[in-house]
Amino acid sequence: MMTMTKLKERSLLGLKDLSRGEIESILDRAAYWAAREEKLIPVLNSRFVANMFFENSTRTRFSFEMAEKRLGAQVLNFAAAASSVEKGESIYDTVKTLESMGIDAGVIRLKPVGVLQELAGKISVPLINAGDGNNEHPTQGLLDLFTMKRRFGTLQGLTVSIIGDISHSRVARSDLWALQKFGAEVKFCAPPNMQAPELDAPYVSMDEALKSDVVMMLRVQLERHETGMLKSAEEYRAQYGLTEERAAKLSRHTLIMHPAPVNRNVEIDDSVVECEQSAIFTQMSNGVPVRMAVMERALL
Ligand code: NCD
Repeated sequence: MMTMTKLKERSLLGLKDLSRGEIESILDRAAYWAAREEKLIPVLNSRFVANMFFENSTRTRFSFEMAEKRLGAQVLNFAAAASSVEKGESIYDTVKTLESMGIDAGVIRLKPVGVLQELAGKISVPLINAGDGNNEHPTQGLLDLFTMKRRFGTLQGLTVSIIGDISHSRVARSDLWALQKFGAEVKFCAPPNMQAPELDAPYVSMDEALKSDVVMMLRVQLERHETGMLKSAEEYRAQYGLTEERAAKLSRHTLIMHPAPVNRNVEIDDSVVECEQSAIFTQMSNGVPVRMAVMERALL
């Protein structure tokens, strides 16, 4: 049985409590995997990983599966809609069930905040957070940092604007907490009802936000809204959207990012998604080597 300290070192619950050194070593290892040309490097071929998604996902789930399979791991996939969670089986019971069957690590996405921390105290295999409510999405944060570091060489002194639905965003939180450890300057821009005053970053106007080295747009998270938060998509686009007009005025060196899925023509115009300055699909490519580094750390 793994000791609690070892288990804690191998799990990845969030970036807030991870040291700068630990983040750096994951990013360095991700760079190593990104440089490897072979698709399959089966260093994890005797390890079993369960991807347990109690909340919908396309990108993150496939990205983890791709990373695990590139490393040769045996992968079990679980989506809540196709399981007995629908019948009221608790998240704990499900994870415990898979643990009893012998999985070596679990990747988990779930809605309620706090449940993952609780699970981590009761489960004896490493757990990787694939997004827990509006708390953290550490592998997205890591792939965002990886993308910025590759583009600018360093995170120190980088100005990063995170624009949109901050209050419902786990991506904003993981990015903020990680970027601040590296001396980047994070600013927020959001409508008053989508702000998170408890987070330690200043709010600026849209004009000001667009002057940064990185402009990160967030999806308006309708599924996490109480009714009536977004009055009209057109109005939101006009005030907070990265429209074609606004994108044309960005400095040539500014990098456009978005964790996706994108609400096209709401927070970002259709034509901007794949424009030259956009790193949106690069982020998705970078997600695979970053998750390879995270899975290797959990299992080797
Ligand atoms: C994000 C998520 O699920 O938190 N997407 C992702 O994982 N790439 C952001 C979002 O859903 O808008």
